[in-house]
Amino acid sequence: YPPEQSNTPPLRAKTDYDAMEAQIEENPEAVLNKVKRLLESSPEEIALLSLQAQALDKLAEKKRSNNLLEDAITSYLSLLQKRDITDNLFLKFANRTINRMRFRGQYGHAISVHKMLINRFPKDPRHRNDLAVSYLMVGRVSSAKLMLEEILRLWPSDGFALVHYGFILKTSENDNEAGSHFLQAGIDSGEPGTMDARFLFHLGDAYNRLGKYIQADKVYELGVEKGLFRSKYQRSLYNVDRLTARPWWSLQQTTYEKQFRKFEEHWKEIRNEAVAILESHGKTSAFKDEVENLRDKGVWKQLELYARGQQIPSNCKRAPVTCQLIAQFPAAHSCRRGQAKFSVMHPNTHVWPHCGPTNCRLRAHLGLIVPLGTELRVGEERRSWQEGKVFVFDDSFEHEVWHNGSSTRLVLIIDIWHPELTEQEKRSLPAI
Ligand code: LMR
Ligand code: MN
Repeated sequence: YPPEQSNTPPLRAKTDYDAMEAQIEENPEAVLNKVKRLLESSPEEIALLSLQAQALDKLAEKKRSNNLLEDAITSYLSLLQKRDITDNLFLKFANRTINRMRFRGQYGHAISVHKMLINRFPKDPRHRNDLAVSYLMVGRVSSAKLMLEEILRLWPSDGFALVHYGFILKTSENDNEAGSHFLQAGIDSGEPGTMDARFLFHLGDAYNRLGKYIQADKVYELGVEKGLFRSKYQRSLYNVDRLTARPWWSLQQTTYEKQFRKFEEHWKEIRNEAVAILESHGKTSAFKDEVENLRDKGVWKQLELYARGQQIPSNCKRAPVTCQLIAQFPAAHSCRRGQAKFSVMHPNTHVWPHCGPTNCRLRAHLGLIVPLGTELRVGEERRSWQEGKVFVFDDSFEHEVWHNGSSTRLVLIIDIWHPELTEQEKRSLPAI
């Protein structure tokens, strides 16, 4: 509504605006038409422009129209430029603009709105925190870090800033010591936005890598208690709740024993294809280093054949038998939440305990070259590979790998959809 001190008195009674605002939910089109007519005689009236923006916003939602949403965003932005807009309306519309821009994936555009909020409300740390989040969402980690450092200079105990700052130190800078300190302080603050599975996930991991196992356990138990993790060991973040959860699966339990036996029958051809690729390029092999910072030490490389349900033709050309077998195995080749890949690991490698992203897949390994001294722990049980044999585990459970042998280990990894997912779920779950 027009500010109280406005020189031009409102042209209509407040009740007229209230009535129109109440009508937006039901019939945004009618409100838009009415407002358009009224704007002809008073094009600068903030109350009318507000109604127009909100009606466009509602109509965009109803019609699922991006064009209308763009119009709504433009309307909000021009409102935010008005000199007379009250603090309350400015706050409400700026936040809504950011919300709608994020919904459209326009995190970069949102940044200028965040900056307007910070300028107008310099004493509220929330606006700086929100800007830091938008920076993170567009991958501007160093800008986010600078912003959070500024917040923590001004408000040293701001929990939201603490937890995000710790998250950056842990995940981008691999600083487990400082990262765990800030993550813990932020979570302990109990402030809104700090009790998040991702923060507990990385705090526990940081403690674990520091050898602080008791603290790590406490964090995981808190995550279970808060309903953020399915169990102490199963800490995947993208889950379907009802699925059976066990660390190790027998081939029979997967319901795909027949398909896995096929891979076992052809294991030597599969091995030969992998070895040929490994040897063909020597040091510049098509195998790619593991880049997720899961390694404590050593060499661990992978060559993807399928990823997110898509074949990788350039690699499959070099492993035709293997890819043909996968192509005949729908639960594997359609698995958009996993991969099929060769995995090679050199002696003296240790992979930190970690959890995969989702409980929607199971992970099969076919042993191809298996030296002594290699071991995989899933949950509380350790197993070793056998050449020509498949085993299956659920990689959403914490697992850890050691290679203390003296020659290279090679396996084929095949992810499959969890057998209890429905066809509809397999079609519609977003890929990972
Ligand atoms: C994992 O899935 O993390 C490992 O088991 C992969 C591998 O190559 O052993
Ligand atoms: Mn893994």
